[in-house]
Amino acid sequence: MALLYETDYGTPASTDSRTVTLTVDGLSVEVPAGTTVMRAAMEAGISIPKLCATDSLEPFGSCRLCTVEIEGRKGYPASCHTTVEPGMVVRTQTPALEKLRRGVMELYISDHPLDCLTCSANGNCELQDVAGEVGLREVRYGFEGKNHLDAEIDASNPYFSFDPGKCIVCSRCVRACDEVQGTFALTVHGRGFDSVISASQQDSFLDSECVSCGACVQACPTATLMEKSVIEHGQPERTVITTCGYCGVGCSFKAELRGDQVIRMVPYKDGHANHGHSCVKGRFAWGYASHPDRITKPMIRDKITDPWREVDWDEAIGFAARRIREIQAEHGRGAVGAITSSRCTNEETFLVQKLARAVFGVNNVDTCARVCHSPTGYGLKSTFGTSAGTQDFDSVEQADVIIVIGANPTDAHPVFASQMKRRLREGARLIVADPRRIDLVHTPHVQADYHLQLRPGTNVALVNALAHVIVTEGLEDKAFVAERCESEDYDQWREFIARPENSPEAMEAATGVPAEQLRGAARLYAQAGNGAIYYGLGVTEHSQGSTAVMGLANLAMATGNLGRPGVGVNPLRGQNNVQGSCDMGSFPHEFPGYRHVADDAVRSIFEREWGLKLDNEPGLRIPNMIDAAIAGVFKAIYIQGEDILQSDPNIQHIAAGLSAMECVIIQDLFLNETASYAHVFLPGSTFLEKDGTFTNAERRINLVRRAVAPAGGLADWEVTQALAQALGYPMAYSHPSEIMDEIARTTPTFTGVSFEKLERLGSIQWPCNDKMPEGTPTMHVGSFVRGKGRFMLTPFIPTEERTSRKFPLLLTTGRILSQYNVGAQTRRTENRMWHAEDLLEIHPHDAEQRGIKAGDSVAIRSRIGETTLHARITDRVPPGVVYTTFHFPETAANVVTTDQSDWATSCPEYKVTAVEVALSPALSDWQTRYREQRRQTLGLPAQSVEAAETHR
Ligand code: SF4
Ligand code: SF4
Ligand code: SF4
Ligand code: FES
Repeated sequence: MALLYETDYGTPASTDSRTVTLTVDGLSVEVPAGTTVMRAAMEAGISIPKLCATDSLEPFGSCRLCTVEIEGRKGYPASCHTTVEPGMVVRTQTPALEKLRRGVMELYISDHPLDCLTCSANGNCELQDVAGEVGLREVRYGFEGKNHLDAEIDASNPYFSFDPGKCIVCSRCVRACDEVQGTFALTVHGRGFDSVISASQQDSFLDSECVSCGACVQACPTATLMEKSVIEHGQPERTVITTCGYCGVGCSFKAELRGDQVIRMVPYKDGHANHGHSCVKGRFAWGYASHPDRITKPMIRDKITDPWREVDWDEAIGFAARRIREIQAEHGRGAVGAITSSRCTNEETFLVQKLARAVFGVNNVDTCARVCHSPTGYGLKSTFGTSAGTQDFDSVEQADVIIVIGANPTDAHPVFASQMKRRLREGARLIVADPRRIDLVHTPHVQADYHLQLRPGTNVALVNALAHVIVTEGLEDKAFVAERCESEDYDQWREFIARPENSPEAMEAATGVPAEQLRGAARLYAQAGNGAIYYGLGVTEHSQGSTAVMGLANLAMATGNLGRPGVGVNPLRGQNNVQGSCDMGSFPHEFPGYRHVADDAVRSIFEREWGLKLDNEPGLRIPNMIDAAIAGVFKAIYIQGEDILQSDPNIQHIAAGLSAMECVIIQDLFLNETASYAHVFLPGSTFLEKDGTFTNAERRINLVRRAVAPAGGLADWEVTQALAQALGYPMAYSHPSEIMDEIARTTPTFTGVSFEKLERLGSIQWPCNDKMPEGTPTMHVGSFVRGKGRFMLTPFIPTEERTSRKFPLLLTTGRILSQYNVGAQTRRTENRMWHAEDLLEIHPHDAEQRGIKAGDSVAIRSRIGETTLHARITDRVPPGVVYTTFHFPETAANVVTTDQSDWATSCPEYKVTAVEVALSPALSDWQTRYREQRRQTLGLPAQSVEAAETHR
């Protein structure tokens, strides 16, 4: 069982490869050069009292508790601030030191409430421990004098409270916010006795710049900053190490429990993706797992107009299996399909695609990556030979110039953003390409060198212009290209990209970015020692999404920025397991490991393993399934953990497709929007309720461990297995590790992966095989996966979605820190305090022209649909561009997004929709209908339409 509390070595580990030997309390100790005396002692098992030091922060040296004696030195140096030297002789425990430490502790305790027995930190308080460690038995100074004991508690943050009466002003919280999170929200206000910790300008935590990452709470050695869940329920008594279920950073967490109740989620110090850091979602927003809206009983109905009928698992699974077989008998094998979930584990995803291919007998399987990163798969596979990012996250610590294009890491990948900001504060240069002024453009101690504020839909023009400058100004890495890339493709590309039509000047009209800025940015990137590219859905979700990805790959190849730490092309993948769901064969044309279904050799591997013949024709993608349903030839679908009615574009079209089907099977945590069209509802399980693995954006396979029992009784993989059995297929895994063994047997990039090895190594980045038995942090070292890198031609073809007099603005969409995707989870947590509805960001100039003021209700209309939401006036967006998030079904931004999609992968063009915005006090028709439908579903009285809207 994992340790509840990890060892705190006091100061960070040194990475120096040289070693130093010293003596501590008579013990000979060998440590890396640069290690502090405190850490050297701790590593040798000798504890030195400390309060201001912790190993996630640089030493500070304020508390003077960690003093030691060093032979040949005068006085009592602070061990946290003294670096080891060869032959040093250190004593940590002498009568003089004891006296000194007791004196310091006495002063601390004289201004600290003596309420240990009733304190929330009792049993897990460093102050309490140190008092015991130094042998403090009495406090000579009474509480009559000036003290802070009555200071007012700040309970404004929904997840943690701040009790200044318990604060020892050690500054660990301030330093955690600065060094780890990079938000700089806290300061020590006042001097001497009057020093107090202050959030922003002595605001409450809620009103301050704090983003609730929890780093300060984690760092606090007392009960001053404390999780409210611990205050309410008491200290945890056991821990389970697992992986966050939200985003593609894949942070490792300790789920800390009492009995079967989760008390808190604490970021795991040895987590390879997050190194002990977290964001508000993973750290605090897990309450949805026990929300009363969870559906825990299977339900069925014959028609979608019938009320749901709760049944047991056997009846629900039997009903679903019978309907699938009836439909296949009547309409043919191809009339059914499945959608895998990027929220579920690799093992669960593998099973759903296996169910489709081996049990349904079709390749009609797709995943939500269709609507986000499918262009990444296509683009990186075409150029490099594999469909994944090239680096690990730690690589950013060696980057000299960073391009962030079409990504908003501080909101969407916050823990990685903190790591990136740390590197930027150390001096790395930054180029941001985004229509919107995202936080990274200017954030404390970080200022982008260039903000290329391009018009939505012109990524390819911008990337081509950057490449044009590199080629025409002779900034290429010719040696890299000659050695590592296909020469014929390169020559063609070079001729193409050097054409005047690709110059920054020629592209300026399309992109709106001044040519000089583009030239400066291109020179900066090309002349960087290490140039790293990070991109997100702002690149992929376009009609030329795949082209833009290939353009970025061309840029990196042309400048030799591949195959070593600090460089690369890195998709910041959205959901916790979107990388994994793609790896596991969720696309209709590919088996696990991105191998085409038409490949006889590959197919025979699975035919042998699964014991039957498999279809060699690619199946239907999600949009094709919907179209086929409307055409009357596609009749049944099994959707695990995805709400396509909210997440996919042109909602009206999706609704028409779903309502044309005869059997829609939904497996989810909540009665989601798509479930309105379902005939079978199977309760899903949260990440806390099952074993398995997630694969994050750096190809890192992390273990997910069951902390509590599934609320509905079955983990998602068990439900898929039961469905397969009911359909007559012998599927009988007793644990997800057996599914991983099957993945390893059938998939070359996973050959060396097993649960046993994951337990041993903590995590593994694929490929993991005989050649790379412990995984691959950096891809394409020495040669590309496809052999030679391939430059691809990337002509800029403007999207057909154009502005017009009727639709003069361009809408683009994105995410916000506190909410997640369709919001099904985060909307059911206190995160609503930060973002309770989707807002429309509009530039002051555009707002004034339309008579719109902040907070006004506005209608946004596109060629497809209309929705109403409230306006936020901001110059974060340029004139001509409006922006919204898509977290709330009440506003459903995708009502207005169009059917345009990426030419190669059908990934929808979410990021460009021509719209008009106008004042509109009334809701759109569909919103009124939605409220009414919601009211009926929830069984609320007729007058409570407001309640229907707010109950989620
Ligand atoms: S709040 Fe905690 S971490 Fe911050 S100064 Fe006070 S005791 Fe130290
Ligand atoms: S929660 Fe995070 S952002 Fe907020 S004050 Fe603490 S460290 Fe800073
Ligand atoms: S950054 Fe992503 S993975 Fe990490 S805690 Fe936040 S949501 Fe979870
Ligand atoms: S722990 Fe070294 S001075 Fe505080």
